Amino acid sequence: MQLAVAAGAQVIGAARGSRKLELVRELGAKGAVDYSEPDWTEQVRALTGKGPDVVFDGVGGQIGRAALEITGPGGRFSAHGATSGAPTVTEPAGDVTVIGIEQLFDFAATARPRVEQALAEAVAGRLRPVIGQTFPLARAADAHAAIEARAVTGKTLLLT
Ligand SMILES: NC(=O)c1ccc[n+]([C@@H]2O[C@H](COP(=O)([O-])OP(=O)(O)OC[C@H]3O[C@@H](n4cnc5c(N)ncnc54)[C@H](OP(=O)(O)O)[C@@H]3O)[C@@H](O)[C@H]2O)c1
Repeated sequence: MQLAVAAGAQVIGAARGSRKLELVRELGAKGAVDYSEPDWTEQVRALTGKGPDVVFDGVGGQIGRAALEITGPGGRFSAHGATSGAPTVTEPAGDVTVIGIEQLFDFAATARPRVEQALAEAVAGRLRPVIGQTFPLARAADAHAAIEARAVTGKTLLLT
């Protein structure tokens, strides 16, 4: 989100619950939409008109499919995660280019400059890692339980 906002994109974040939506707004989103609400895709349409040009889908399942269906004509859809338990069914995709996990295969060659760029942005204060919560290592099981309960924001760190 932060990189997209910095690049000049108008970003809409979709998540569940007020805490996460608040974070999305804090990170510079034009809109924050709760996908547990039945009309969430209409809310995205209201914000984007013809639908988003690019969609990053880390959830999959019904939410991912609904997101694919509102992607704008000629848009791009990254199906890279399935936290809902199922990948997004990406066929038929209509006039949308779907990018799957295979996008990673060529990353190794350009990984170093990407990491250098990300670190430079962080040093300059333009990229802020979102550490939502920390747990002492001895409470690793609690950290996992919190992630599983979808009760965390950003990254969850274990401290030694
Ligand atoms: N291919 C790649 O390059 C790549 C890179 C990074 C991550 N991934 C994959 O992308 C996915 C997301 O990664 P992430 O780092 O964004 O994970 P994350 O920070 O743990 O976020 C996962 C989110 O999924 C949402 N979710 C929706 N339905 C869910 C369900 N039924 N059970 C649990 N969570 C659910 C939850 O948000 P709400 O509670 O708000 O719904 C949760 O916060 C993972 O599958 C990961 O393996 C792939």
